[in-house]
Amino acid sequence: MDLEHNQLPQGEEKSKAVQEMFDLIAPRYDFVNRIMTLRLDVRWRKKTVKALSLPPESIVMDLACGTGDFCIELEKSGMIPIGFDFSFGMLKASRSFSRFTQADVLQLPLRSNSIDGATCGFALRNLTELPAFFEEVARVLKPGGKIGFLDVAEPENRLLNWGHHLYFDRIVPKVGGFFSDKSAYSYLPKSFSYLPPYPEIIQMIEQAGFEHVQRKLLTPGSAQLISGEKV
Ligand SMILES: C[S@@+](CC[C@H](N)C(=O)[O-])C[C@H]1O[C@@H](n2cnc3c(N)ncnc32)[C@H](O)[C@@H]1O
Repeated sequence: MDLEHNQLPQGEEKSKAVQEMFDLIAPRYDFVNRIMTLRLDVRWRKKTVKALSLPPESIVMDLACGTGDFCIELEKSGMIPIGFDFSFGMLKASRSFSRFTQADVLQLPLRSNSIDGATCGFALRNLTELPAFFEEVARVLKPGGKIGFLDVAEPENRLLNWGHHLYFDRIVPKVGGFFSDKSAYSYLPKSFSYLPPYPEIIQMIEQAGFEHVQRKLLTPGSAQLISGEKV
């Protein structure tokens, strides 16, 4: 599927296209990510892990873990990460020593009420069914289990918003196309439209069985952190 020119796919078609795209860009994913976010993604992940407020030795599943950047951050904080992703290419490109399983995060191979926390980085918009995902996370977490979901956002300040769009809509596809795959990095800014407005996301998470659900924009407003606790 040519993600650059076609309408954005849905359902099974989307899932297959996303998996193939990440398999393709996996070898240079980390490198391009650091350039694209000017290394801000490293800081955003640290904040997300801190927001979990879980003690060392906690078992945390990193959902749609990709090359395992969150796993590395969780390891640094003394937690025990387990990564899940359906792209074998992304898992193979990992630099983390955590345990990884190739799996669809909508059907986790884990017992109910068994895990202390969950992280998910820049993947919500790639999933086909957000409510089903939040319900699956709620099933697997222990009561009191914590979530930290990091994803893209738009700055609220008008000038920053303009700069954000100029950068992500015009510059990122060119930089990504130069170092990696043009079609994949043109899809990236478009994929933002899959993400519902944050009040809807919060509502879905609460309906799945979480409380104290909060959303925080992270500097300069290009990322959002959604945190909460399983009831
Ligand atoms: C933008 S990458 C993010 C990777 C990593 N979390 C990070 O922060 O860099 C999105 C990841 O979501 C994965 N993904 C998308 N849908 C998935 C699903 N249903 N099950 C498992 N992984 C999925 C892709 O394979 C890809 O590795």
